[in-house]
Amino acid sequence: MEYNLKMLEKLAKETLSEKRYHHTACVAAQAKHLAEIYGCDLMKAQVAGWLHDICKEMGREEQLQWLTKYGIILDMVQRSQPKTWHGMAACGFVKFQLGIEDADILRAIRYHTTACGDMKPLDEVVYLADLTSADRDYPDVAHMRQLAETSIKPAMKYAMQYALSDLVARCQGISRDSFEAYNYYTQF
Ligand SMILES: [Fe+2]
Ligand SMILES: [Fe+2]
Repeated sequence: MEYNLKMLEKLAKETLSEKRYHHTACVAAQAKHLAEIYGCDLMKAQVAGWLHDICKEMGREEQLQWLTKYGIILDMVQRSQPKTWHGMAACGFVKFQLGIEDADILRAIRYHTTACGDMKPLDEVVYLADLTSADRDYPDVAHMRQLAETSIKPAMKYAMQYALSDLVARCQGISRDSFEAYNYYTQF
């Protein structure tokens, strides 16, 4: 299926702040780059990249409405972490507002913040694109980028190790999806 990336770019520009629009454009480009390396669908990777944070600047109530409409029921940990809602909310927004029903795109968007225990290649590409886009500048981003471009499973393992350590350090709960993702990637 063909998607109009120009229209998605326009939507992101109209919906998001300048900073988040820039991040989104960088993630879409990096998702295409990683999809090329790992043989994923380039169009789906870019669509997911353009839309992954489309609900991030919405109010919490509106985010809850979209994720509920999509059929997601938050567990106790997810309920306590509103920052993780925007990926799930975007599934509702993308499906019902934009009419995009592709299951691969919706999954990649849904799990871009928490990951999950059975990530598909496109999910991994979008997750890592979000962490390694050109606008990112955390201390070991160069290492993360290099890992993402060379070995995707170890890159996910490294990312999950960091994500869970960070949650523990801040005494935050760990959602079932993140917990299962961490356990899955320890084998690589
Ligand atoms: Fe996000
Ligand atoms: Fe993002």
